[in-house]
Amino acid sequence: MKGECLVKVDPERPEREALERAGDVLRRGGLVAFPTETVYGLGADALNPGASARIFKVKGRPPDNPLIIHVEGPEGLWSVASSVPEEAWRLVERLWPGPLTIVVPKDPGVPSVVTGGLPTVAVRSPAHRVALGLIEAAGVPVAAPSANRSGRPSPVTAQDVAEDLDCEVDLILDGGETFFGVESTIIDFTRDPPVVLRPGPIAPEDVERIIGVRPLVPPEARALATPERPLAPGMKYRHYSPDAQLVLVEGSTNPREAAWALHCTRLWLENELGGGAAVAVLASEESIEEMRRLGLARGGEWSLGPRRDPLIAARRLYKLLRRLDREGYRAGVVEGVVEEGIGLAVMNRLRKAASRRLAIGEALSLCRRGVRP
Ligand code: TXA
Ligand code: MG
Repeated sequence: MKGECLVKVDPERPEREALERAGDVLRRGGLVAFPTETVYGLGADALNPGASARIFKVKGRPPDNPLIIHVEGPEGLWSVASSVPEEAWRLVERLWPGPLTIVVPKDPGVPSVVTGGLPTVAVRSPAHRVALGLIEAAGVPVAAPSANRSGRPSPVTAQDVAEDLDCEVDLILDGGETFFGVESTIIDFTRDPPVVLRPGPIAPEDVERIIGVRPLVPPEARALATPERPLAPGMKYRHYSPDAQLVLVEGSTNPREAAWALHCTRLWLENELGGGAAVAVLASEESIEEMRRLGLARGGEWSLGPRRDPLIAARRLYKLLRRLDREGYRAGVVEGVVEEGIGLAVMNRLRKAASRRLAIGEALSLCRRGVRP
């Protein structure tokens, strides 16, 4: 039965009993889904190869896509890493616990199923009392990818986890909605200068402010290129996608233009899908306001928040992608956000989730090409 494995916990002051029970499950080789400040994770004892292997099975995750190991704090690095560059150390001392994952050479004790056979390991310390309490109660480092079925949007509530994995996991700790709504920033410190493998809540400029070096952001990290030889295994997979098809409209500079572009793309998609299919629009508050003013709105327009605040877009992103499926939409049109701060992460996720990308001009030309507004 759905939800039977769900246990409510207070996100601020998690109940000791729940944490101990969950810690026990992990120590015995079981799986526990838990909230972090980014998204929900699906945890196993990182030093138990059988338990970690089960994560791949339950998620349907390709075996070469490694997991992130969660530790209590910087000292936890010594149980899973063989060396830590000085810059990485300074960074985690400032930012942990927090939404930053570092990639460093792995300790031989870390099973190769966890790292997908790589000589490196990804590690982070989550800024969430439930996650930290769980790691402490388990007494082991916790390997955890996001707790979604592989390829789906990451879960930001316990209900999202249950929707994807039901009770195939032993326990889901329900600590309410996560804060950031997108996954941690991953920085590879085995390269010089360090390289952003996945943008997240910690922006490159935040890192530069602390260590005096700005990590590189390669085109792959912006999902602008699908590399032949990816810097990280995760880069080559399609991700974060709802069942509904998603069309991304990029590069709008003003709400009026965006309103028309979104409208034209919606009509074109409805036309293509046929059968009276409805298409949702995910866009900035300003663009939706403009659609209303122009008489182009007709319900099914969902706000990603004001243009100047990409954190709101991050927090709503996966919820809205899942809403498309829950409400039975066959498609959605989504407006891109400004690629700054956490907006870099939002655009990376949107480009990976979208099956088609249109520049604003292309989107506008759909109206001219005979789809009547
Ligand atoms: O915020 C987060 O990072 C969440 C929460 C649960 O902590 N976790 C998460 O894990 O998002 P997920 O599902 O994205 O999987 C881990 C990512 C993959 O993209 C994987 O390719 C990358 O980390 N990764 C893990 N180990 C790596 C390594 N040694 N080198 C490069 N990338 C690695
Ligand atoms: Mg994931």
